[in-house]
Amino acid sequence: MARILLIVGCGIAAFKAAELIRLARRHGHSLTPVLTAGGAHFVTPMTLAALAESPVYTSLWDLKDETEMGHIQLSRAADLVLVCPATADLLAKMAAGIADDLATTLLLATDKPVAVAPAMNVRMWQHAATRANVATLKAHGVQVIEPVEGEMACGEYGPGRLPEPGEVLAQLNLGSSAPLVPSGSQAEVDVRLAERPSTSFGMGGSLSGHHILVTAGPTHEPIDPVRVLANRSSGRQGFAIAAAAAQAGARVTLVAGPVSLPTPGGVARIDVETAEQMMAAVEGALPADSAILVAAVADWKVRASPSKLKKEDGPPELLFSLNPDILKTLAAHALRPRLLVGFAAETDDLLAHAAAKRERKDADWMIANDVSGDVMGGSHNHVHLVSETGAEDLGQAPKDEIARRLIARIAEELRAR
Ligand code: CTP
Repeated sequence: MARILLIVGCGIAAFKAAELIRLARRHGHSLTPVLTAGGAHFVTPMTLAALAESPVYTSLWDLKDETEMGHIQLSRAADLVLVCPATADLLAKMAAGIADDLATTLLLATDKPVAVAPAMNVRMWQHAATRANVATLKAHGVQVIEPVEGEMACGEYGPGRLPEPGEVLAQLNLGSSAPLVPSGSQAEVDVRLAERPSTSFGMGGSLSGHHILVTAGPTHEPIDPVRVLANRSSGRQGFAIAAAAAQAGARVTLVAGPVSLPTPGGVARIDVETAEQMMAAVEGALPADSAILVAAVADWKVRASPSKLKKEDGPPELLFSLNPDILKTLAAHALRPRLLVGFAAETDDLLAHAAAKRERKDADWMIANDVSGDVMGGSHNHVHLVSETGAEDLGQAPKDEIARRLIARIAEELRAR
């Protein structure tokens, strides 16, 4: 198990460092975070310290740091130094040997392997100066974890995005054969990565270079420590959509409520229980090119009793309050996906209800889903795609065929937008 000195640079991708810490620790690695002044604008030392269960080092001039552990020692106590995310500025300083803060001083002083995971605007990444700095770093033996293609927080498209934390870890030489997937782990919020299926379209797929975010399954709202408010959603349609997106070459994040379905190949899965946890996981996964919200999110949460409700106390009065509306929140989000797709499960007036819901929630598409039969939990579905221009019948078919048809339409639409 490796001891990683993790230098967190500036940028919107800094929040992924938090996820990286959690994932790496789950695989037995230990992390000592160093947060740059810029990084601290995006993620707090408190968050990193809590996740790493380690002090977070921020300043060269913090005497406490020097007495606790000198900066030379700090870098030498690690097996590996990882800069994630690495800015263009950090890469330039590393290439030039500049040491003007704690992070750059550590990087110059270390005698351990160094890896950088750059994340920046596409033009900055492609600039001749950055290209030259990256070449210099490679010549110095620094491992460069290449950024992936996708939409940037700034709205531009191209290479420059930090890969998912699981991919960053997978590329590091951590001297461990432990798989990145803990078997059967069902933590409250759990990240699992599955192998890419051999049928993947890879780089040539119709969604290659795109990030697709999918929610699936029900949510469970606790009533007391042993009881929950749930619904009949099986998660099958959402899982089939995540699988179809991965097979079309997309990077897929699947935020799943409590279901017992296997993770589709090539999909990064985050398990949640409640609507609030689902909201947090979805926001944490942004930006995405398209979000397909298939989950049957409980509209209401219950004021949960801290102790088990007893029968002899008579029928309980449950106090409800509104849950966040994930679809509506995404529609108004600064990082709104380009194509926002909701599902409208209705038992009557299918198309009219779906069209009204599309407008009310400011979604681009609403997939109208007739749940008057045994659709919830069943293997087939019949859906209509409701957009601004009208309704299109996608037919009745097994859920994985419906998923493929929908993903093909999404790929077409993303190309056109
Ligand atoms: N949805 C969501 N967050 C919620 C509720 C719903 O993201 N708190 C999403 C669902 O995932 C789905 C769409 O909104 O994509 C429509 O869900 P639905 O439950 O049909 O919408 P409601 O506004 O709750 O309508 P209804 O009154 O019919 O329950």
